Amino acid sequence: MQSTQPEIKQRIEELRKLLIQASYAYYVLDAPTIEDAIYDKLYRELQDLETQYPELITPDSPTQRVGEKPATGFTSVRHNIPLYSLENAFDVDELKNWDERWRRNASPQENVDYVCELKIDGNALALTYENGILVRGVTRGDGVSGEDITQNVRTIRSIPLRLNLDDIEIENHDSLQQIEVRGETFLPLDVFEKINQERLSSGESQFANPRNATAGTLRQLDSRKVDKRRLDFFAYTLQIPGMDDAFANNQWEALELLRKLGFKVNPNKQLCHSLDEVAQYYQHWDTERLNLPYMTDGVVVKLNSFPLQQELGFTNKFPRWAIALKYAAEEAPTRVENISVNVGRTGALTPLAEMYPVQLAGTTVSRATLHNGDRISQLDIRVGDTVIVRKAGEIIPEVVRVLKELRPENTTPFEMPTNCPVCGQPVVREKGEAVTRCVNTNCAAILKGSIEHWVSRNALDIRGMGEKVVHQLVDKKVVNSVADLYELTAETLANLERMGQKSAEKLIDAIEKSKDQPWSRVLYGLGIRHVGSAIAQTVTEKFDSVEKLAAAKVTDIEAIYGIGVEIAESIDKWFRIEANQTLIERLQNTGLQLVETQPAPSVINQKLAGKTFVVTGTLPTLTRDEAKELIQKFAGKVSNSISKSTDYLVVGENAGSKLAKAEKLGIAQLSEQQLLEMVK
Ligand code: IVH
Repeated sequence: MQSTQPEIKQRIEELRKLLIQASYAYYVLDAPTIEDAIYDKLYRELQDLETQYPELITPDSPTQRVGEKPATGFTSVRHNIPLYSLENAFDVDELKNWDERWRRNASPQENVDYVCELKIDGNALALTYENGILVRGVTRGDGVSGEDITQNVRTIRSIPLRLNLDDIEIENHDSLQQIEVRGETFLPLDVFEKINQERLSSGESQFANPRNATAGTLRQLDSRKVDKRRLDFFAYTLQIPGMDDAFANNQWEALELLRKLGFKVNPNKQLCHSLDEVAQYYQHWDTERLNLPYMTDGVVVKLNSFPLQQELGFTNKFPRWAIALKYAAEEAPTRVENISVNVGRTGALTPLAEMYPVQLAGTTVSRATLHNGDRISQLDIRVGDTVIVRKAGEIIPEVVRVLKELRPENTTPFEMPTNCPVCGQPVVREKGEAVTRCVNTNCAAILKGSIEHWVSRNALDIRGMGEKVVHQLVDKKVVNSVADLYELTAETLANLERMGQKSAEKLIDAIEKSKDQPWSRVLYGLGIRHVGSAIAQTVTEKFDSVEKLAAAKVTDIEAIYGIGVEIAESIDKWFRIEANQTLIERLQNTGLQLVETQPAPSVINQKLAGKTFVVTGTLPTLTRDEAKELIQKFAGKVSNSISKSTDYLVVGENAGSKLAKAEKLGIAQLSEQQLLEMVK
């Protein structure tokens, strides 16, 4: 083992500082300071140094955000101070009641300030920092104890691994030994929608709202998966045991301090000097919140003064000095008029409640998913029942419960059909599965669904081919498979309802253009179970042609980082079905891209042909990988170990055993500079 040189340590610290600053600018300030490529370069340099000097790795290094190994479970941890919940109010009158109530319990107050914050619809987290370093992240749990999910919390880029204590004007920094920060972790709406889209396309049930999706993400054992979900975090509470009021006099100052420490604090907060101002804030955000990239379900009103907060204290559940002022009820009662069953492209039968239209969160709701047969038995929902529907997260309406006391006489329990409501063939429900499926590959519903999926945005993106066109084509038996789309003529299309010659021609053009879509989209378009668009992208990066993928073994596919056995088996199963092989053949004949056409790092010229290189040590400007790539671009061969057949050793600083071996074998050495000259 070589001794650690002070310059290395210094460079590592310098890189960390640069990376932390850049990541803060990007994730917290939303104002990037450097280009991604530069960030990646610096990051790789740090990673290389840390691989070489593992003893210099610290837990607050930007490379330590994602764990290598999944956790086996989470341990329960008791909170130092419980995480209280908030009392709810639903309108300004209830807000006034609360204001009168706390005033009765406090010494006489004049000029009270209120801090208004948005109530973020996510999950509360308690973060502990010791000497400025994040040591623990715990979920709210039941408020008294939660689960230690530190590994997952570390992946959240807007949560600093190291606090910025430099700008804190406080006499005795040692008093900041232990700091607890609380806030809300949440999924931005675009990420939430992407996750649901993926789940839909891979046949999984969707999350009802961002809060559930966040909770589901936090419970993942594999932090690499959490990392991909891009959780975000807003801090709202700062606690420094024993000296809470020495660092800030009030909540407004505490929020400012949190910002200085490096946290993301929601910018839409407001210091209000009267209850009227609070009411205005509440009304303003009722509509404005719909333009935010995350979900809010209300506002939180807090008395600003810490001494006043202390005077009032807590009930056994809530602080007396704060209240959640929620927006219009998103639940409403209505009556079930029918229960229908929809058949999707995977053949899954989804029961739907058709209801008397009801206003929910600003829209009219008349249908809600009942998910599957199990959910129906659980609810015991029947035609004629009065139910409570919820427009969860303003996204998917669902039936929350049945008001059995209002059930009319002579109703009968709803049973899932034993035959497909579309093609009439018997349906199957596999052991251990909640889903009932039609398995008739010629079922019109499955065909319609598969074609709609094929033409959708993230697949082949054939604009103008809407649901109505697809249904007519299938019903008229003009199209029996996605391959048939490529044999359509403008004449056939022009004969469809509400389709003129012009739009028919445009549609033919769009179909033609879809042949240029990359292989990854084609794979996604095939609608293989569990293969959403992100998975398709990952798979095609490794298997760059349909032949390679079709020939791959389950173990080969599973070997791809991020691909589990379930996905691998599903792909394997799909390619072994004869009808699918025929489909691939037909698609190939139409001229679709079933091969990745993106050029691989191609050879620029042959300057280094016939020579074998080994790269070692830290080079002045290139990372080792970049040097290797450069050699390959000029047709040189790169090897990882020195042997007699090595022609050149490219040496950087702190080269170890490879240099010694090369010297022993008398192999020529090159500096980075000399290598660059060779290819000039
Ligand atoms: S303050 C004792 N501030 O709402 C203080 N909570 O319904 C309690 N929440 O469990 C929390 N945004 O998960 C506070 N700006 C905000 C919040 C907020 C969202 C959540 C939090 C809490 C729940 C209570």
